[in-house]
Amino acid sequence: MDLFSQIEEPEREELLALRKELEEANYKYYVLNMPTLSDREFDEKMHRLQELEALYPDMFDPKSPTQHVGSDLGKKGFETVRHKYPMLSLANSYSREEIEDWVRKLPSDVEIVCELKFDGLSISLWYEHGQLVRALTRGDGVQGDDVIANIKTIPSVPWRIDRQDIPDFFELRGEVLLPWERFEALNKEREEQEEPLFANPRNAASGTLKLQDPKEVARRGLTAYLYYMLGENLPGKTHFERLSTAREWGFNISDAIKVCRNVDEVMAYIAYWDTERKNLPVATDGIVLKVNNLAQQEELGYTAKTPRWAIAYKFPAEKQLTLLKEITYQVGRTGVVTPVANLEPVQLSGTIVQRATLHNEDFIRSLDIRPGDRVWVEKGGEIIPKITGRADREIGRPRADVALLPDSAEYAFPTRCPECGAKLVRVEGEAAWRCPNEAGCPPQIKGKIEHFVSRKAMNIDGLGEETIDLLYRQGLLHNIADIYDLKAEDIASQERLGEKSAQNMLAGIEASKQVPWARVLFALGIRMVGETTAKKIAKVYNSIDSLQWATAEQLTAIEDVGPQIAENIVRYFEDIRNLEILERLRQAGLQFEGESLQPSAISHQLDGMSIVISGTFAHHSRDEYKAMIEAHGGKNVGSVSKKTSFILAGENMGPEKRKKAEELGVRLMTEEEFLEMIK
Ligand code: IVH
Repeated sequence: MDLFSQIEEPEREELLALRKELEEANYKYYVLNMPTLSDREFDEKMHRLQELEALYPDMFDPKSPTQHVGSDLGKKGFETVRHKYPMLSLANSYSREEIEDWVRKLPSDVEIVCELKFDGLSISLWYEHGQLVRALTRGDGVQGDDVIANIKTIPSVPWRIDRQDIPDFFELRGEVLLPWERFEALNKEREEQEEPLFANPRNAASGTLKLQDPKEVARRGLTAYLYYMLGENLPGKTHFERLSTAREWGFNISDAIKVCRNVDEVMAYIAYWDTERKNLPVATDGIVLKVNNLAQQEELGYTAKTPRWAIAYKFPAEKQLTLLKEITYQVGRTGVVTPVANLEPVQLSGTIVQRATLHNEDFIRSLDIRPGDRVWVEKGGEIIPKITGRADREIGRPRADVALLPDSAEYAFPTRCPECGAKLVRVEGEAAWRCPNEAGCPPQIKGKIEHFVSRKAMNIDGLGEETIDLLYRQGLLHNIADIYDLKAEDIASQERLGEKSAQNMLAGIEASKQVPWARVLFALGIRMVGETTAKKIAKVYNSIDSLQWATAEQLTAIEDVGPQIAENIVRYFEDIRNLEILERLRQAGLQFEGESLQPSAISHQLDGMSIVISGTFAHHSRDEYKAMIEAHGGKNVGSVSKKTSFILAGENMGPEKRKKAEELGVRLMTEEEFLEMIK
């Protein structure tokens, strides 16, 4: 290797790692509604990726997150429709300097429209001959889901514009939001019903828009602000005129729109709204600046993802100083012990925060944080709050409700597990302290069982967190193998669980015996063996017997398996307790061997058949069904036609496909019927 490639190599790896990380962050944000990075962290990583991609043009990839916007497609039951004009996102800025840089690149006579940046979901409303005909989510920017039935529940969105002076077709884009007041009421209700809370109004709005029940959507009380009109032959030469026209036609356009002529005016607008926004009924997270003149807009044009004629300015993340009352410790599924700050409750971005993560021992030491300190708390990505700093200590003002450490006392991380008392260990190079008592520490035992039954693993319905806790406390569940020894009477005799729950659970347990080997391997919960890694390993090691005897060296030959993962696997199989559990699982009938998927190797049962897969499934993933169809000689096709032999239909299959199938008389087959057929 020459000198240059030695320097290049880590950067190339960094580039690939960033792509992966951002892709995942997009998925978590848009599809799962569970942001993992703060906007700022996301932007910084995106910047770095752009920089690296510019350095290494040979690594260009049209699929890179720099080349497309994140996607929220894949909701059940909505029609996916191509946008007439792609739905782009906006470049972000965080300082006056960045705004100045942007303005410098614009024509000198430019007018800039300042607007509030609403923090909800973007929506594109199509009007044909005055009639609202579609309401599309952003989706992946190219196509979106039509959620018109839900949008029609918003009182301020007109279903019809009765005027002569409107074009045949136009589109209005804007933001769907759940007002603060509605958000708080909804969460209160969910708390009473022990349902998971929404982290912020944006998530609540997104969850609401995905519901299949417009009545419930109406009850929750969404609202919408519109901020962009598109189409052919529209009136007006400026963005501001267009929005004024839209307001006249009856659309809900915010009053907080201002035409500015220089950066000072823009900064004054920002300063005003940074405080004033707290009195608004909906969440905002910044300001949007747009070139007013439409001809100038056109001239400036677009990058792959964003217009050059607009930019967002994001308000700094909200943080608060509050009292750190106590540090407690939480033990996770893998034994990691996380220090948690218990705070005097504070309002932060509209919600009350009283617990926040302190990350690990090094973090606490580096800031010298102790109970009794006033600490800064922030919401990263507005989800899990974190401590980000400490205020200078005020001397001589102890609080009665806090056990203050004497000044000389250094902070000490516990040496024993707060849950089971085992001596904690810290692996060199890792920041975390861990409880090694895997088989005897309650949160680890329960966490492993929760992981095992989770949707992406064994997918056992009816065995949730609370039930696991209950059965654990009753002494019925101590490890994953115990699940297969559960009897109907054990379950039904529990308070809160009846015959019906017992039957559900046992059916789920029975069905899990068909879960394929790759997912079983993931479900075992070997440290660092995630879903994708498990799949890759299962492809090379077709059975547990072959995997069990693999050496660390052999394992590292598998893509994505580094020395640490290999070591974890080898250790897993060295532990006699694991071997006992595996033996019991084998007896129970779990799939410890993969199917070999060469088509001819299985059967010719589906020879010549064209099969459509639609909906979501309980026993196998779509990809697995696809592989099964091919393995039995069939062909998996995308759309329903006369030639379709049958549809493998899961839950919530698309309404279009269902209609087409009915018209053409194509049979719908359930997954159970299908599995029976190819058995
Ligand atoms: S204009 C081509 N104006 O912010 C430009 N967007 O981060 C189209 N947003 O996807 C967007 N308030 O969902 C525009 N006043 C406003 C906005 C706004 C909120 C959202 C929108 C966009 C996102 C980009």
